[in-house]
Amino acid sequence: MNVLTFDTEEQIGIAAGYYMCGQVLQKPDSVLGLATGSTPIKAYKQMIELYKKGAVDFSQVTSFNLDEYVNLDVKDKNSYHAFMHDNLFDYINIPEENINFLNGNAEDLQLECKNYEKKIKACGGIDIQLLGIGSNGHIAFNEPADSFQRWSHVVELKESTIKDNSRFFNSIEEVPTRAVTMGIGSIMQAKRILIIAIGEHKAKAIKQLIDGNVTPKCPASVLQFHKDVTLMLDKGAASLI
Ligand code: GLP
Repeated sequence: MNVLTFDTEEQIGIAAGYYMCGQVLQKPDSVLGLATGSTPIKAYKQMIELYKKGAVDFSQVTSFNLDEYVNLDVKDKNSYHAFMHDNLFDYINIPEENINFLNGNAEDLQLECKNYEKKIKACGGIDIQLLGIGSNGHIAFNEPADSFQRWSHVVELKESTIKDNSRFFNSIEEVPTRAVTMGIGSIMQAKRILIIAIGEHKAKAIKQLIDGNVTPKCPASVLQFHKDVTLMLDKGAASLI
């Protein structure tokens, strides 16, 4: 595991943005696995900057987002669909037809999850997966559990995640209680993984990810078994390692 610490969130954003763009420069038709949450926003800003400067071209890129809420209109500002358009897709040139999301409004969510996995495979797999981490160690929406869920699936969100994510909604009651998410197997199959964590509230999960027991009680800990993981941390997130 390659653990990099930075002084500021700005620096992490720049480094992570360059890291993602580096992948695209090296392989213009890269398949990017993308994440939501407040953590990757500055990385996306940097990717936009580099695109605007003409340093990188996303016209052959395909993207797969990690997760989406169930039963939330994609036009709702809190949908991950809207988030990605507002923070990245509207400002770079990934063709709309190459942008993929799990559809949390699909009639048959199980089938939707199966088809998503098939599509990732058909595109040759994810070249680089960007990840944040929940304060309880969740990745995407793989919540702490008794066993790892391998492929994309429907999940009941934990109280702590609903509480963490309620800051984006008008009230906690508005936060969806279910989501569709890539599984641990889907994430582990990515060729490279970049995780960003900012803030002391992530320190416990980061410590467990790096040197704790590998357990589904802290889903991120499974990343110890991946061969190419880079962590970009600020001092707060790195404070227990
Ligand atoms: C959500 C997302 C995760 C994300 C996590 C952390 O639950 N499903 O993919 O990593 O939040 O969010 P933040 O970056 O806002 O702390």
